[in-house]
Amino acid sequence: MIIESRAMERLKLEEKLQRAEHLSAIGEMTAGISHEIRNPLGIIKSSAELLKKKMIKSEQPTTIIDIIVEESIRLNNIIKDFLDFAKPMTPYLKPCRIDDIIEKNIYYLSQQIQENNFIIQRDFTQPVTEIMADAERLYQAFLNIMLNAFQSMDKGGKLTIVLLSEDDKIIIFFHDQGKGIPEESLKKIWNPFFTTKEMGTGLGMGIVKNIIESHYGNIDVFNRDSGGVTVKITLYLTRADI
Ligand SMILES: Nc1ncnc2c1ncn2[C@@H]1O[C@H](COP(=O)(O)OP(=O)(O)OP(=O)(O)O)[C@@H](O)[C@H]1O
Ligand SMILES: [Mg+2]
Repeated sequence: MIIESRAMERLKLEEKLQRAEHLSAIGEMTAGISHEIRNPLGIIKSSAELLKKKMIKSEQPTTIIDIIVEESIRLNNIIKDFLDFAKPMTPYLKPCRIDDIIEKNIYYLSQQIQENNFIIQRDFTQPVTEIMADAERLYQAFLNIMLNAFQSMDKGGKLTIVLLSEDDKIIIFFHDQGKGIPEESLKKIWNPFFTTKEMGTGLGMGIVKNIIESHYGNIDVFNRDSGGVTVKITLYLTRADI
């Protein structure tokens, strides 16, 4: 009898543990997705605000646009409450070109770039080799990196994006002209919730690292001698499709 009840107890414990693991996996996934919803949501909000300005000029009613802006803010707050921490992920690999992904990033950020007179300098060595990668994920990673650069730079700042295509790898540099990162914080930027921003969640760079490492790539962040930060990403053509 005792043996039987012990076995039952163990089974129950195992079930409990499995459930806890499952719940934590869901929690982690939700956190990652939630974080990424906030970036396009910000773009929807600022685009609606711009549209509102245009409609005011042409003396048209703007109530519907006010609803878009208000609901975007509400959704953003709900997501903020959801955020826990990020989670490693499995990329969905397809042939893609890094320069295409970066162009898409720049295009979707053009509103913010124009508003702040940011200069984007592209330094892409041609031809750019195709790589097996998850274009959606890399887009998310580059978006987080570019947003960090913009949030650190004053109006008129320049972001230089360098793309080196070599035999077995592609190297991407993002050089910004922002305030840089204090030496003692450099190691912490990967930690979930490490943020120096009032409105930041501190998950951006953790997610970037997960995305790059899920492609078996490397990422380094360092201060530039001339001020600002360099983010260096290396993606391997052979290792990416393991
Ligand atoms: N290019 C950069 N220039 C200066 N500081 C940076 C840069 N990139 C990251 N940091 C520092 O690293 C911290 C963590 O960055 P991370 O992207 O993870 O979070 P966050 O930008 O604060 O918030 P979010 O979750 O919205 O991205 C930032 O708060 C900032 O202090
Ligand atoms: Mg960030």
